[in-house]
Amino acid sequence: NWQPDQFIPQAIAQIREKVGNGRALIALSGGVDSALAAALAHEAIGSKLTAILIDHGLMRQGEIEEVVQAFPSLDLRVVRRDDVFFAALKGVTDPEAKRKIIGREFIRAFEHAKEAIGPVDVLIQGTVYPDVIESGGKNARTIKSHHNVGGLPDDVGFEIVEPLRWLFKDEVRKVGEALGLPDSIVWRQPFPGPGLAVRIVGEVTPDKVDILRQADAIVRQEIRKAGLERQIWQAFAVLLDIRSVGVMGDERTYGFPIVIRAVESLDGMTADWVRLPDDLLETMASRIIGEVPRVNRVVYDITSKPPGTIEWE
Ligand code: XMP
Repeated sequence: NWQPDQFIPQAIAQIREKVGNGRALIALSGGVDSALAAALAHEAIGSKLTAILIDHGLMRQGEIEEVVQAFPSLDLRVVRRDDVFFAALKGVTDPEAKRKIIGREFIRAFEHAKEAIGPVDVLIQGTVYPDVIESGGKNARTIKSHHNVGGLPDDVGFEIVEPLRWLFKDEVRKVGEALGLPDSIVWRQPFPGPGLAVRIVGEVTPDKVDILRQADAIVRQEIRKAGLERQIWQAFAVLLDIRSVGVMGDERTYGFPIVIRAVESLDGMTADWVRLPDDLLETMASRIIGEVPRVNRVVYDITSKPPGTIEWE
């Protein structure tokens, strides 16, 4: 039976041994895995760790502030690059092209930030066991090119340490709880490296990210209020690239639809759509239409994985 109390001291010893008197670096994505790897590494080596968070302008509402607040004593450098990412994504609609551009810009921004930090000996990564299976096993055929902070180039001349490599997500969360991390970190949902870009079908623009971010925040707030946050693997909003006709007061509207997506899953490889209560769906829909400008319709995605994927792109 796996126990965090046994795992934590071993992981800390391993990180200390690898880093020695050197320096270590970690890239934070906003998702749960890299945050917990950072927490563990910080516990192990304190000020020898520097964290980089590339703000690609595609994070969820409040995400960066939450991470910064959760790690008050960590040397965390937030690198704002939203203008670069938006410029690179301009006019691009193909899902794979979007993923590749974001992956490439992420590496550029990371390399740039790394130069400012000086020599580094160890790169800490938040790889978890399902990532290991997915990239090596029979499912390795590329359905989507995954970009995550585990996807940094490995020719960078330093050693890579992956303290969570043998853990499943529930075990990772137990480690977070045992380390005393806030719920906002431990119960953070998985979040794709390309961020909100893969939840905007079609071209990504700052305007659309703004619309999606507001709708997404409402979905997550209502899930939390209903006490469902821990049962649900992911719940989020998707913005479609079409418009439909509606009516508000006695005015005709012509606005964007938002898709609500909520799935249950153990590891993200397969997933079931969640039978959310009607009342909850109704609250979400009326809040989204009432509060988010330019959205006039809300639909619920009832596709499981397979045949659907969890994300829309
Ligand atoms: P799909 O959409 O393939 O997603 O069913 C499965 C799980 O993986 C997450 N996801 C990603 N995570 N980088 C990541 O770190 C990515 O590029 C990426 N794409 C999808 C997705 O949120 C879901 O949990």
